[in-house]
Amino acid sequence: MTHSTSIIIYGASGDLNNRKLMPALYNLFVKERLPLPFTLIGLGRHGWSTADFRTAMRESVSRYAGRVYDDAGWETFSQALHYVQGDFTERADYDHLLQRLTEIEPGSANRLFHLAMPPRFYEAIIQHLGETGLVQESGDDTWRRVIIEKPFGHDLPSARRLNQTSHQVLREHQIYRIDHYLAKETVQNIMVFRFGNSIFEPLWNRNFIDHVQISAMETVDIGRRAGYYESAGVLRDMFQNHLMQLLSIVAMEPPSSRQAEALRNEKVKALAAVRSCTAQEIRRHTVRAQYRGYLDEEGVAAGSQTATFAALRLFFDNWRWQGVPFFLRSGKALAEKLTEITIQFKPAPVMLFAQNRQVPGNTLTLTIQPDEGIHLRMEAKTPDTIADLQPVNMHFHYDDNFGEAQIPEAYERLLFDALKGDASLFARDDEVELSWKIIDPIIQAWEAGEDPPLAVYDKGSWGPVEADAFLAEDGRAWFNGSDRHHIVQP
Ligand code: BG6
Repeated sequence: MTHSTSIIIYGASGDLNNRKLMPALYNLFVKERLPLPFTLIGLGRHGWSTADFRTAMRESVSRYAGRVYDDAGWETFSQALHYVQGDFTERADYDHLLQRLTEIEPGSANRLFHLAMPPRFYEAIIQHLGETGLVQESGDDTWRRVIIEKPFGHDLPSARRLNQTSHQVLREHQIYRIDHYLAKETVQNIMVFRFGNSIFEPLWNRNFIDHVQISAMETVDIGRRAGYYESAGVLRDMFQNHLMQLLSIVAMEPPSSRQAEALRNEKVKALAAVRSCTAQEIRRHTVRAQYRGYLDEEGVAAGSQTATFAALRLFFDNWRWQGVPFFLRSGKALAEKLTEITIQFKPAPVMLFAQNRQVPGNTLTLTIQPDEGIHLRMEAKTPDTIADLQPVNMHFHYDDNFGEAQIPEAYERLLFDALKGDASLFARDDEVELSWKIIDPIIQAWEAGEDPPLAVYDKGSWGPVEADAFLAEDGRAWFNGSDRHHIVQP
């Protein structure tokens, strides 16, 4: 029997819903990927009527949904939209919601709740959802699922508490913890690259790889987000979630299947093998910095020590990666928007060709964004020389092969998967806790004012000189996007 599906969005008048969720849902509708019949219920504090909500959402969708928007499509889609006002931290609002659901849902219905709200509301919402029975799976074949936005906790104890509260009300298979990096096409392609091809995996280990770099650089500064960013900083904002996810996918063992559990088991195993840092190691293996001008941003506390840039050196204690450093860095107000993973292979054991420079090993770069693709750097013989080597690149670009329009927004995929019940691109409870376990000691040491001291960097640079020195200590250097385009001639 086909049941209807209700998608219930908390924070319906908020930015996330306007810019991402509603346009993504509209795109899914146009692609005929929304389960039919469906109802979309926005919950928010604004004193909107359903008609006002539809008007506001039309504005958002026509602006952010891209070329697929058209008036006729919108007319059909918008018939499914309803609005319920409330702040949803009070029990009375839930009785009202329940009553509206009974009126709107045509019969037994699946329900997907999306908590697009500030995290301080999560526990109260989840408890109310439990008390009112709104998320109880009743034994017929309808389902109840809850999508929880990031950040999931503020540190390890709060993430644990949120997991415990969630588990009092929901079973783990009902919980979908968002990390939008997982839904990026290029992130999913790391798995295809590693396990859909046979030539790379045999090399993917300590015998052939010198080190790995994972960079998530941003040009944007904190803008008007000081309220959030001051208590987050770069480690909570980018490392605990996005960079830990990239790290685990690059480092994990091949999963036994594509099923969510198989994949998450491997990611958890990889994260569990990351060596935890002592205070002394934190001093040696981390760099923290703040861009010049951060202290003048609106809402930033005088003398704030919040890091807007960090670089870490992490090691795994396992057979595959023993001794291979993984360098992670991320920051705001940098030279380029660039997320990429670089695998630096070891150099050739013997160099037959006399060179006036040191010939490095091959470099494989998985460019996550904005130039989605893969680049392999190798040495080639310069024509008409005896044997002068020159680095050259092999490129694969998504645009050239699939066309730009083929890459959907991350939320489209995430909502689609949550509706299908596929949790493979969402984080599991233990995965989130392990990520906090890696990052928390660093946050604590930094917040306690321990070394390394907070460095500064200029806006529009590639980060502090301390981060360069950090790699130079090992005789290594960061790869910045432009290195690929302007390979230095020997
Ligand atoms: C978010 C962070 O999770 O990710 C932001 O809160 C950051 O500070 C953003 O800018 C980066 O996402 P993307 O997809 O633009 O790389």
